[in-house]
Amino acid sequence: MKLKKLALVLTGALVSLALVGCGGGDQAKQDAKVLRVGAAVDFAPFEFQDEGQKEYQGFDMDLIRAVAKEMGSEAEIQNIGFDGLIPALQAKNIDVIISGMTINDERKQKVNFSDPYYQSGLTMIVRSDEEAIKSFKDLKGHKVAVQIGTTSANMVKEMEGVTVTELNTPADCFMELKARGVDAVVNDRPVNDYYINQTQAVGVKSLADKLSAEDYGIAMAKDNADLQKKVNEALKKLHENGEYDKIYQKWFGASK
Ligand code: ARG
Repeated sequence: MKLKKLALVLTGALVSLALVGCGGGDQAKQDAKVLRVGAAVDFAPFEFQDEGQKEYQGFDMDLIRAVAKEMGSEAEIQNIGFDGLIPALQAKNIDVIISGMTINDERKQKVNFSDPYYQSGLTMIVRSDEEAIKSFKDLKGHKVAVQIGTTSANMVKEMEGVTVTELNTPADCFMELKARGVDAVVNDRPVNDYYINQTQAVGVKSLADKLSAEDYGIAMAKDNADLQKKVNEALKKLHENGEYDKIYQKWFGASK
């Protein structure tokens, strides 16, 4: 009886040794070198896909690659719909989200955020011939398109007398506006500005009125405080060594 028990313990030990030997350790080491990033790649100039370019482009994409490098890993970026990002993080399919994601209390219940890395806010785009809508208070009685799961969607849904259409991407919202399915699009200011100034957006204009001030953060799982610390350290380093400024200038043309 005693011998049998000893044999069992020994077999157990041998199995564990064999597992380590067969690359259990190597595998863990390899995985640690990859930072699995989720982004909704529909948000120029933060994350987008350029025709003819294999790699995802944008401020967030450059920033997270630099953060990963600083941490001694490599960013592996997955394109996930914006409203699927937090669920993907909770399911442990990704390690971080970078996606122009606004830090807010509701999300803080579900994820940890890094220190803020970009100051943003919400503005509106309307058709060039629009006379009735000049500021957010004019939205009453109108139809508005927003990207699903965003702070824009939350804000507009709270406005009285506004009919809200939630679509998958900002591009879908702009299309709906041009097709006259809605009267305005509410979306993040830098993305609206880029759409108006950098793409050949015709028949639409952006309005100056700002609805809110928002900070973007990199999101991580709640039970991964260690990663949060490492990401914040990397961000701090990138601010100190000028790399953050370089990336900022590349995409926004001015120093922060
Ligand atoms: N800042 C807004 C939010 O957090 C919109 C972000 C949308 N990001 C994207 N990649 N589509 O809700």
